[in-house]
This record gives sequence, structure tokens and C-alpha cells, in this order.
Amino acid sequence: MYRSHNCGELRMDHVGQEVTLSGWVQIGRDLGGMTFVDLRDRYGITQLAFNLDDNADLCMQARKLGREFVITAVGKVRERSSKNPDRPTGNIEIEVTELKVLNAAKTPPFTITEETDGGDDLRMKYRYLDIRRNAVKDNIIFRSKLGLETRKYLTSQDFVEIETPFLIKSTPEGARDFVVPSRLNPGQFYALPQSPQTFKQILMVGGMDKYFQIVKCFRDEDLRADRQPEFTQIDCEMSFVTIEDILNTFEGLTKHLFKYTLDIDLGDFPRMEYDEALKRYGSDKPDLRFDMEFVELNDVAQNAGFSVFDDAELVVGICAEGIADSYSNKDMKKLTEWMQRPQIGAKGLVYVKFQADGSIKSTVGKFFDDDQLRAWGAKFDAKPGDVLFIVSGEAEKSRKQLSELRLEMGRRLGLMKKGDFKPLWVIDFPLLEWDEESERFHAMHHPFTSPKQEEIEKMLNGDHETMKSLKADAYDLVINGAEIGGGSIRIHDRELQSKNFDLLGFTKEEAEEQFGFLLGAFEYGAPPHGGLAFGFDRLCAVMNGQSSIRDFIAFPKNNQGRDMMIDAPSPVDQTQLNELKLELGEIETKEEA
Ligand code: AMO
Repeated sequence: MYRSHNCGELRMDHVGQEVTLSGWVQIGRDLGGMTFVDLRDRYGITQLAFNLDDNADLCMQARKLGREFVITAVGKVRERSSKNPDRPTGNIEIEVTELKVLNAAKTPPFTITEETDGGDDLRMKYRYLDIRRNAVKDNIIFRSKLGLETRKYLTSQDFVEIETPFLIKSTPEGARDFVVPSRLNPGQFYALPQSPQTFKQILMVGGMDKYFQIVKCFRDEDLRADRQPEFTQIDCEMSFVTIEDILNTFEGLTKHLFKYTLDIDLGDFPRMEYDEALKRYGSDKPDLRFDMEFVELNDVAQNAGFSVFDDAELVVGICAEGIADSYSNKDMKKLTEWMQRPQIGAKGLVYVKFQADGSIKSTVGKFFDDDQLRAWGAKFDAKPGDVLFIVSGEAEKSRKQLSELRLEMGRRLGLMKKGDFKPLWVIDFPLLEWDEESERFHAMHHPFTSPKQEEIEKMLNGDHETMKSLKADAYDLVINGAEIGGGSIRIHDRELQSKNFDLLGFTKEEAEEQFGFLLGAFEYGAPPHGGLAFGFDRLCAVMNGQSSIRDFIAFPKNNQGRDMMIDAPSPVDQTQLNELKLELGEIETKEEA
């Protein structure tokens, strides 16, 4: 028998019982007469005690145990003389009578503790060791629970979980596809799905009514903390629904998940139009844990002879409370430089400091007198001690830049509190995005998104400029500034779908070649339908107050898209290439490498 109990469950009630535990050696402590070993498994840590006087051989055996050895120990549960209140098992220990080493272990390359000393790539290379750490293990267990609760909720609402294929034709979701060569069809390739978008729509035409799937998606895009090349979605689609039905269903799901995994009641989610979100926060995913709303200053700051403002499309600012006296000139200079980095690209940063003594200090003091600056302050309800930060220029760019500063100030001022969750539906996204460079429209969400009902006529008959202003029945769920999910009501009419492809620059032949199956399906009785997908990894991370999704994925990839443990991607044998009728040209094959 390997174990009668796990390493996390023994308490004072068990004192006197004979038990068998198995697990990994966390650490050993040799105190002369006594040797202690912390034994760890998924459930916790239990202290094993060895007394030199009682059993010298056993004690010597215990002293030889190395970190991460796998052992079985038999012994009696006893009350500890010095208790550890930080551990659930901290009141007891095991007086060991038998010890067996099941497997020795090399010294691990990093410490298996809460805060590890291992770098990211090292941790990923030895992921099996990293997963033994509570920080990662707990995340992976949380993810399992979240998946279970998702299935419980959606099946209780009559959703059916249906698998869709991984070897498909590309779906245009905006990223690059990963492609897979076909041996049986030389020269042809499958694409791994960026999402099951077209399949779930076809399932609606098939009458499945409510579909969901917790599904892997693949996107060959540049990686960031919140992006992985393969990630998971909670993907859903519903028939005969309005936006209201969809938002209510998935607000219900989100509330259920928070309640049953974190015991948090979220309350009703506010909604904000896309245009309003940009105007008030400069972002379509505003973090509502703090205010710091944008205030536009064109009316009070222009036409006063300060050409930077006079020539700008937009003059806009935020108010950071209570920092006037603690932010020195040097701090302000650093902050300006931070805004001028290429990632943000601001030309400069204007500030107005309302100092506690009532005086005002500003980079534009030469152009505006104190009364004028006070009038600006009044627009923000600024108090003594507050600082206004102002940017100006092209409206879209200025809003983006100020949004970065707003988030940075939120971080610096500790306004993004852990355990505080602020969900928001952002609605009424634009349908199309005009790309100046390529002089063409892109779908803001994807090509299957429907314009708002009242915009359909405009879309079918309007001119080019009209198309830029079309609004879509599209929505995102944002929590604490992270885009958790997005979706839309779909076009279910062949004519409208063809018009959309046309606007997006597809020729009739291209649309037919790529989406003929969907357009064809629309001719056989497509119900009105819509849906959305949550990023499952992101939801896990945000619910745990983290910005990186990596530690919620058992085997993530690094920033170069590499799996450090199995060392993928890697070259393949020439025979495999021959079978696939692929020639690599200049690139080395495995034998040459
Ligand atoms: P979208 O492309 O907005 O919509 O994706 C939905 C959600 O998936 C998450 N996500 C990612 N998570 C991790 N790594 C990535 N590389 C990544 N890319 C996206 C985000 C995002 O909000 N088919 C549509 C949904 C629909 O219309 O029903 C779709 O995929 O949290």
C-alpha cells in the first residue's frame, strides 16, 4: 500500500492512528537528536519525525534523503510540540517507523517553493518540476474547476457540447494560420482553426440551437503575456436570439463562475458603447477599477497661442489625485520620457500641478495664467495636491497614449486592487475598419458579423463614407481592462453576407472558394443566430488577479512560440518531407542540423 492518507489531510483527530503517506521530499532538517522531513504531495505537506535514540538506522536513512526523492513513510500521528499555524497539518507530525525510497531524484535546477528562483525558460523546460509548485499547481486545478462549472452551467441552459474538427480550411479571424500538409493530397494543406467560427454557424443551420465547446484554437501571431499560439476558448452559439439574450446568458455564466469558484457576487454588468469607451477611457477595454476619466480641453486650451494645442485635433487629459507634492521635476521628466518611448509614441506630456499650498506649476505656465489653469482643473474637479496630465494631437493616437498613462498611473497609485472585479460589456463596435495603408476595409470583429438591424439598408445601398460609420451588433466582455470575450449577431442572409465579403475586398470567386460552404448553407434555411467566445486562459488569469496566462496552461510556449520541454518546433526527417512531397529549399533538415 502506498498511502492511507494524503499529505494534506491529517489533523489532531488522527492523533494515535497508524498511517502510510507517499510523496516528495520538500526539505529535510537535521537537528542532531531529531531529523524532520517535510513530505509533499498535491494536497499539502506533512512533517515526518525521526528520533535518533528510538531508531538510529531509520534516522540515518532519513538524513540521506535528498530534495524531491519519492518516498513512502509509515508511522503514528502525534501532536507536535512546536506547532506551525501556517500549515493545515501544522498541529501534527508522523513518528516514522518505516521508510522506503521509491525513487531517488537529482537536485532540481530551481527550488520547488512558492517563489521560485527559476527563470521562465528553465521553468518551462522542467515543467514537471514547476507544476509541483503550489503557484502553478493551484492554477491548473482552478482551471479544471472553471471548466467543470462552465459545463455545468451551460448544459443546465440546454447547450450541447459538440466537437468541431481541427484539420480545417483557414478561417479569417485576423491572425495567421498554422498549416498542416496533407500526405494524401500532396501540395495541399489543412489549417488549424483560429476558432470554430464557421462550424458553429453551420451547427445553427443544422438546427442544434445552442452549442458550446471548450476548445483549443491556434493563431500564429506575435506572443504577449496574454497570448499563446494555442489557447482555449469557451465557444458558444445560439439560434433565434437577440443581443439581449446572448448578453444575459453569458453574464449569467460569468456570474456563476465567479460565485462557484471564488464565492464572489459580481452584480449586474454595466454596458458602454464602443464610442463612449474610447471617449471616456481611450480604450475599448477600459479598466473600471478606478475612474481617472478623460476630460477634453479643446474649448479651454485652444486659441491661446500655444501652437501644440492650437494645431491639435484633440487636447485631452486625466487627473491623478494627490501626487503633486510627491512627484518632483525629475519624476515628471521620467514620466514624459516614458510617454515618448516608441511603444507609446507621445510627442510630449503637459502637466499642471495644483500644489498643496495653492500654487500652480505647469509646463505650459508661459502660455496660460493661473486662472486659466484653474478653469482646466475645475473641469476635472481637481483639488490641491492633484496633477493634470494632458496630451494633444490626432484624436485616436492621443486617446491611445493617454489610456496607457491612465493605466500606468492606476498601477503606480495602487488603484488596481486585487480581488476587485469590474466587468463591462462594450457594445456597438464599428462593423468595418478602414486601413489607410492598404486602402481597404477590414472586419473589426470577423466577416460574419451583422451590422445593427437599423444599419442594414445603409450597408446595402450607402456610399464608401457611409461604410466607415456602420455599427455592428458586436460586443466584448471586459473584466478589469482585459478582453475576456467577444462575439456578435451573425449575418444569416446570403445577399448581406456577399455584400460584406465584397466590402472586405473578396472577389465573388474568392468568397465562393473560401466560404462557398457557408454561403451555400445559408440558402437552406439559416436561422438568425449569434454567439461569442471567452478566452478561457485569460478568464482563469484575470479571476486570479494575474496578467500572464502562461501559468494557467499546463504546458505553455515561450515568447518565440517554443515548447522548451519537448523542444518543438523542430526539423523533421527527410523521409517525412518526401512522403509529404515537401521541399525545404535552403532550410536545414534534421540530419543536416
Ligand atoms: P476573438 O478572436 O475575439 O473571437 O476571440 C475570443 C477570445 O479569445 C481570447 N483570445 C486569446 N487568448 C489567448 N491567446 C490568444 N492568442 C488569443 N486570441 C484570442 C480572447 C478573446 O476575447 N470566433 C470569435 C468569437 C465569436 O464571434 O463568437 C472569436 O474567436 O479572450
